[in-house]
This record gives sequence, C-alpha cells and structure tokens, in this order.
Amino acid sequence: MTVVRDPSVKPLLEGRGVTKRFGGLVAVQSVDFAVYPQEMVGLIGPNGSGKTTLFDCLSRVQSIDEGRVLFKGIDITSKKPHSVAHLGMARTFQVIRVYRKLTVLENMLVSRQWRGETIWSQLRPSQADTEERARELINFLSLEHLTLEPAGTLSGGQRRLLELGMALMPDPDLILLDEAASGVNPTLVETIKDRIRRLNEERGKAFLIVEHDMRFISDLCTRVYVLNYGEKLAEGTPEEVMEDEAVIEAYFGT
Ligand SMILES: Nc1ncnc2c1ncn2[C@@H]1O[C@H](COP(=O)(O)OP(=O)(O)OP(=O)(O)O)[C@@H](O)[C@H]1O
Ligand SMILES: [Mg+2]
Repeated sequence: MTVVRDPSVKPLLEGRGVTKRFGGLVAVQSVDFAVYPQEMVGLIGPNGSGKTTLFDCLSRVQSIDEGRVLFKGIDITSKKPHSVAHLGMARTFQVIRVYRKLTVLENMLVSRQWRGETIWSQLRPSQADTEERARELINFLSLEHLTLEPAGTLSGGQRRLLELGMALMPDPDLILLDEAASGVNPTLVETIKDRIRRLNEERGKAFLIVEHDMRFISDLCTRVYVLNYGEKLAEGTPEEVMEDEAVIEAYFGT
C-alpha cells in the first residue's frame, strides 16, 4: 500500500539531488528525499551505503558537493551546523557522543542551547528553566535514577537514551537518529522504541531513523528509503521495500 498524502502539506525536510564525494568515491549520489511534518521515516542500506554521510550533509557537518537541502522551506545547503540546529533539526551519532565524566544531568545541561539563544540573549531561558526541562526529559526517558551518575557508567542503551535526551534539549521538530538501537540490550530497545513513538505521537516530533534492525524500522516508520553505494535504490512502506528484489539483492546478493 502506498502512502497517501495531502498535496498541500509541504515537506519539513527536502533533499534534491544531494551528492557528496570523497576524492574519487561518490558516497552520496543525486539523492532525492523528503520528510513531512510529524513523519517517521527510515533510512536503511548495507554498510558503507552512505547513510551517515547523508546525515552529515543534512546536519551540515559535511559540505554538500551538488544538490540542495531545504528545511522548513529554507535553503540550508550552505548554512552552518548551529544555524540548522537553531531552525529545529537535531541528530544523534552512530558512535555515541556523551561526556563520560559529566553526570547525566550535566550532559543534558551542556546541550541546552535553545533555538534563537545566540540571537536574543534576553530570551535565553534561565538556568532553573533549563534544569527543569532537563529533569523532565530525564524522567521521560526513565533515566531519573541515574541523574547524578557519570555518563561513563551507563550501559550502551542508557547512553543512547541520554543522547536522545541531549538532542531533545533544544526542542527540535526533526531528529535524525544514526543507529538508534545498535549495541542496546533487547529490553532497552523496546524502551527506546516506545519513547520515540511517544515523542512522535504526543509531542509531534518527526524522525529520520538509520537502523540495521529492520524490525525496529518497520515497527516505527511508515516510509523507508533504501541507499546502496550512495544511490537511492528504493523507497516505500517497510513492507514494500522488504519485498523489493533489488533491495534483497543489495543485502543478500553476491
Ligand atoms: N570522511 C570520509 N572520508 C572518506 N571516505 C568516507 C568518509 N566518510 C565516509 N566515507 C566513505 O563513504 C562511504 C559511505 O560511508 P557511510 O559511513 O556514510 O556509510 P553508512 O551507510 O553509514 O555505513 P554503516 O552502515 O557501516 O554505518 C563509505 O565508502 C565510506 O568509506
Ligand atoms: Mg553509518
């Protein structure tokens, strides 16, 4: 079944012909895609197919060689990472980035930059508001018993939850998750899945999710893009792409 959408709804994020090269290697090649407001979209593909590189291009950690990226209708192709964050896009990293010696609460507080903070300092939330927000998110993510523990003592899954919390501190509208559940025990995978679903349903967040566990993708996402050697190989519902011959060949072929 194909996804039916109201044509008057504009994409939250849109990529047109996005291309990224590393020397002679084309890591991302002419990729078109869109994420609509409050949508849950998966991004899958074999190892080295360009998923993280595409995230790096979107969050502007990497320059884009060709093509354009629009976020909320604004061309962000040449914007700085912090400008994109201020517009309401956040991401997590394949290799988890938390400050191991800082406590869970401190990690949340250092990622506190709210949208517009640097422009209108008088609108900057007070330290008390920021801490209240951090504690609310820590509770939401079921990490409250670890609030004052150094992040280095957390399990892989707890760290993934913390990183999600850090990404949520600026109250983004779109969150890019790079390997949301890798290195996580099965119980915490369910917790992570549940919190992502609630963030979508109760708080209206949109997600673009990279994850090798196809069950994780199909449980959460209504639409999936498949990359292979940097090119878009397929798109559709999770069921459609899992039955696609070219996708099966890319994953399991010789
Ligand atoms: N900074 C870089 N310099 C040179 N080549 C790079 C760089 N980053 C990625 N690549 C190459 O670009 C290609 C895409 O890599 P990328 O990390 O985006 O894949 P991926 O789909 O995220 O893979 P995985 O599932 O293993 O995380 C690979 O061939 C990789 O070796
Ligand atoms: Mg990757």
